[in-house]
Amino acid sequence: MAKIIVVTSGKGGVGKTTSSAAIGTGLALKGYKTAIIDFDIGLRNLDLIMGCERRVVYDFVNVINGEANLNQALIKDKRVDKLFILPASQTRDKDALTRDGVERVLNEMKESFDYIICDSPAGIEAGAMMALYFADEAIVATNPEVSSVRDSDRILGILQSKSKRAEQGLEPVKEHLLLTRYNPERVANGEMLSVEDVQDILAIDLLGVIPESKAVLNASNSGQPVVLDSESDAGQAYNDAINRLLGEIVDFRFLNVEKKGLLKRIFGG
Ligand SMILES: Nc1ncnc2c1ncn2[C@@H]1O[C@H](COP(=O)(O)OP(=O)(O)OP(=O)(O)O)[C@@H](O)[C@H]1O
Ligand SMILES: [Mg+2]
Repeated sequence: MAKIIVVTSGKGGVGKTTSSAAIGTGLALKGYKTAIIDFDIGLRNLDLIMGCERRVVYDFVNVINGEANLNQALIKDKRVDKLFILPASQTRDKDALTRDGVERVLNEMKESFDYIICDSPAGIEAGAMMALYFADEAIVATNPEVSSVRDSDRILGILQSKSKRAEQGLEPVKEHLLLTRYNPERVANGEMLSVEDVQDILAIDLLGVIPESKAVLNASNSGQPVVLDSESDAGQAYNDAINRLLGEIVDFRFLNVEKKGLLKRIFGG
């Protein structure tokens, strides 16, 4: 039976799709059969970041409407065994996802997958509500700035009051904080909130801290989830977060300004 994990944030552009792609790919690399679902109807970004945009024939809405079955719509990743993507539709109809339809598709997927990662759209409108409604766990992507923390706090409230688990009085959705685009230099200068500041406000378990990194842009430009770039800081930080999600205790890295070595200080660079 699959675990359903939503990657959500409230605020737009904080790194949800980047994180969904990285974490989904990482779980599959560890041998778990994983599907990543793009709930961002109309925008369709996940397939680009996963590099499978040219292989999209059918999408999530087609499956809900019975125009295609799951096997026709799921795209099997060519690099990582056990990894599948269910792309979003490009329809303008924001109501294309019905609660019954989404539940039917998730129930069918639950039978054969270990993890289902739901990449939420921004905001707290219908699409974002649909992405989080059936979640067992939530990864709340947050940038170290006040507006993002405020929106994450709002999403935490919604997870505890409007999710299926809340409505049915089941064990609450397990919440994880994923701090994204963390820039230690700007934190040191007082331009951004620190890990401790964000943790104090949101008071949920810290899953990972992903540094602001050029590797993320390079990865998305080449359609490679950044976790496959195991040399990169962001790739390593995502890998640490995945290990924590699987229950390991892993030290945090990339939290402090990198001290320049003597040669670099003398010669620059
Ligand atoms: N750790 C990072 N370092 C540098 N850039 C990043 C990082 N994480 C995300 N980005 C960049 O931030 C932008 C937004 O990322 P992404 O699309 O993953 O966010 P999102 O939360 O899914 O956005 P939306 O709310 O529009 O769905 C992208 O240009 C991405 O490359
Ligand atoms: Mg996105």
